[in-house]
Amino acid sequence: MTEQDKYAVFGNPIKHSKSPAIHAAFAEQCGQRIHYRAVRVELGDFQRAAASFFAGGGKGLNITLPFKQEAFAFADTLTERARRAGAVNTLALCPDGSILGDTTDGIGLVRDMVANLGWQLQGRRIGLLGAGGAVRGVLEPLLRERPGSIVIANRTAARAAELAAEFKDLGSVQGGGYELLDGIEVDLLINATSAGLQGELPPLPDTLLTVRSCCYDMLYGPEPTLFMRWAAQNAAWAVADGLGMLVEQAAESFYRWRQVRPATQPVINRMRNLLAAA
Ligand code: ATR
Repeated sequence: MTEQDKYAVFGNPIKHSKSPAIHAAFAEQCGQRIHYRAVRVELGDFQRAAASFFAGGGKGLNITLPFKQEAFAFADTLTERARRAGAVNTLALCPDGSILGDTTDGIGLVRDMVANLGWQLQGRRIGLLGAGGAVRGVLEPLLRERPGSIVIANRTAARAAELAAEFKDLGSVQGGGYELLDGIEVDLLINATSAGLQGELPPLPDTLLTVRSCCYDMLYGPEPTLFMRWAAQNAAWAVADGLGMLVEQAAESFYRWRQVRPATQPVINRMRNLLAAA
């Protein structure tokens, strides 16, 4: 029997990572023999741990908090979207022995919204809440869909303004404080803040949504998030959480490693059931 190709996710903490379950489901579905495990890496030890993983025959890594910038530095080459994001969530061993760094979060978000949820992005007015790594990671793939405009609103206005300036060559993008949202309407509102984790909601005007607006929370959980409940109360047309994005970003990593694209909907359904049962 041939040895299974080795993959892992590196993070800290890592105990609650859903990546092993998702990749096991992909491998089973696609008839791929892979071994994928979750590894808790000590802070300050990322470079050594990653080098040792690849030296030991590892084929690819997923990287989660807090190592995405260190993975960016570790990669020998970068995809354009990873370079733009300044962060890497996927490392892949190339045939020539070099390590490619990619980020699949943004394409995962776009696929979930466009392919799974059937939301259109082209020409739409998008509101993006937050200006941290999560937003930086999705701006390039979002702008590639040619939305009409993107407004980034953040508690710390300067962070949003800086991001907008960095990405403005790719489309119409503006950034600042939450007051930027006063008096405007958006077709799509994406929450990429961590406010919900503290039981808080960004200050959103009740004039922001129309009856055709879609709302997406990058967070997810067994119950609708605070942001999703706000969206429903404000009569959003459609509301979704980030579970689909999680599965889609994993599918894109799997594709990069195995050149096989798994069907994601059955895995999203399975993860949804696991979440509800937890
Ligand atoms: P990530 O990598 O997940 O984006 P991050 O870089 O810590 O994490 O960014 C968290 C985002 O959530 C930031 O945009 C943060 O706003 P600030 O830049 O002003 O810190 C936002 N955020 C966190 N808690 C918030 C809250 N209670 N209300 C509004 N925004 C909040």
